[in-house]
Amino acid sequence: MDVCTTIPDLRRVVRGVRAGGHKVGFVPTMGYLHAGHMRLVEEAQARAEAVVVSIFVNPTQFGDPKDLETYPRNTERDLQMLRDAGVNAVLMPQVADIYPDGAETVVETEQLANMLHGAVRPGHYRGVCTVVAKLFNIVQPDFACFGEKDYQQLQIIRTMVRDLHFPLEILPVPTVREADGLAMSSRNARLTPEDRAAAVVLSRALDAAEDVDGTVEEISEVIRSVIATEPRAALRGLDITEARSLAPVSGQPRTTLAVMISAEFGGILLIDQREITPKGAPA
Ligand code: PAF
Repeated sequence: MDVCTTIPDLRRVVRGVRAGGHKVGFVPTMGYLHAGHMRLVEEAQARAEAVVVSIFVNPTQFGDPKDLETYPRNTERDLQMLRDAGVNAVLMPQVADIYPDGAETVVETEQLANMLHGAVRPGHYRGVCTVVAKLFNIVQPDFACFGEKDYQQLQIIRTMVRDLHFPLEILPVPTVREADGLAMSSRNARLTPEDRAAAVVLSRALDAAEDVDGTVEEISEVIRSVIATEPRAALRGLDITEARSLAPVSGQPRTTLAVMISAEFGGILLIDQREITPKGAPA
């Protein structure tokens, strides 16, 4: 596995792969890898001869400097996992490589980035889009894999790729869960045992939402009442939208919905989501 700490190194490796006539799949990450990331890697490996993974904790997508500082990191373990999985190359750039002195260009999907979860975390999706655009230009993959867990991020990246004519495909990958249903996330490692146990309420709320045969307002009410049963959970956002467009919906749903929840447990913000197709609606 090539571990590239500079952009020219990575470009050289990718040129070699391309010269062999091979496809390149890409999995961008912020490290502290878990089974959810490894599922993205597997999906990429199923579709390409060569897979590149980036590990870069992107400062511009963190609002709170303390959140950036305490973001979990374990590069040695990450590299071993990627080696064991047979990944071809890893890009681990420095912040100054990605954001050189004087860098002032940002990429933003104006509407999608500032609604829903983006309204709670101003600037977050601008930071995500900007770094992902840079990484796409550096790696120049044939496709890139993104988890469905951050559903808004997935739709934003799809929109950016369409709007800016990036010549690559975005491959959505379903959320990987712990045995009790908690969506895998690098942030889970920062939860106290009590908050870790409490956080399962997110997937329980989504299970309950799936059982509702009613209006959007009724779905919302059921989710809120399940979350309210867990005193350690502070609900920060609950959005129910049309799945692809993230457009607002109300009343009796006729199309597939995206249900997105964010909640804090002991100051750690977790998100979860599910697509729900109402009975009788076309999927
Ligand atoms: O989903 C993530 O881990 C990050 O937002 C990403 C896409 C790697 C950009 O920093």
